[in-house]
Amino acid sequence: MKQNKNTRGEIKVKKRVLTGDRPTGPLHLGHYVGSLENRVKLQDKCDCFFIIADYQVLTDHLEETKQIEKNIKEVVLDYLSVGIDPKKSVIFIQSQIPEIAELTMYFSMMVSLARVQKNPTVKDELEAARKAGRISEVTYGFIGYPISQAADILFVRAHLVLVGEDQLPHIEQTREIARKFNRLYGKVFPIPEALVGTFPLLPGLDGQKMGKSLGNAIYLSDSPEVVAKKIKSAITDPARIHPTDKGHPEICNVFQYYKAFNKEEVKDIEDKCKNAKIGCVACKKRLIDVLNTFLNPIREKRKFYEKRSNLIKEILIAGNKRAKKEGEETLRLVKEAMYFDYKDLLARQF
Ligand code: TRP
Repeated sequence: MKQNKNTRGEIKVKKRVLTGDRPTGPLHLGHYVGSLENRVKLQDKCDCFFIIADYQVLTDHLEETKQIEKNIKEVVLDYLSVGIDPKKSVIFIQSQIPEIAELTMYFSMMVSLARVQKNPTVKDELEAARKAGRISEVTYGFIGYPISQAADILFVRAHLVLVGEDQLPHIEQTREIARKFNRLYGKVFPIPEALVGTFPLLPGLDGQKMGKSLGNAIYLSDSPEVVAKKIKSAITDPARIHPTDKGHPEICNVFQYYKAFNKEEVKDIEDKCKNAKIGCVACKKRLIDVLNTFLNPIREKRKFYEKRSNLIKEILIAGNKRAKKEGEETLRLVKEAMYFDYKDLLARQF
């Protein structure tokens, strides 16, 4: 771990942060307020590691592996365009660090099947598969993905994990694994804490949670025209039919965007909506401006990196190398603690 001395000469230990995304498509505004914004802030204070979790794509997109490469590039572009700085943070690809897979193997022996099945997020996902008539297709790897996620986090011995609320059960599971390992074999892992974003549940255009696969998202890479079109089609307060009707901002999803992206005007818009002083059309028009003003610098940065494929390649190669170094060190500690280094049998004498 990096150590810095503060002005009084005391050693300050930098905390390690790990978080990441599955490369299944471009990132959206929900990702921004739920996590990316925090990442940009934290990279000045902490050692940040951002994992692009390509193995995790296999849990439910087994037939679409050809697109993963392109999606990885999109995710990296999204990261860089919101201000993640590769000089400060490490961006890397899960499958390129074999130590993560190795750690998953050890961890999978430390979690009971009953415990895996108790995970509320996995339970919800299984329920969705049952309803869709796909329960027989659910794989062993899918049910175990929180264990692989624990390895994603613990291979860098992270202290802090930025996640959306749906991921909290996985962090709880990770903490249990870390505690169990430390109890059985000696202290190797910190017990990581979860940090949820400033605005964890940004609704999509239809009022459901914004999701990559739900067709209700505004992407960081959307053009101004697309943003305008999407906001115009967004569902507002269903009880408000005429502009003269008084609105109910608390149940309007457009209002949630004001809360997330235009804190200065929230109060004003709320009053106007409640008193029928602004109609949904004008309110949406204002929001389109706000969102496009917010997205413009992100678009600019994206353009810069889009033209520089080589730079992206270099960033990923350097990130993978750095992450691998951490993985090697952690696996050395793990094997030593578990007596899996077979010192007597295998260590060289010179
Ligand atoms: N499961 C996360 C998601 O779908 C992505 C992810 C993979 C992750 N490994 C992680 C997040 C480790 C935090 C920490 O968004």
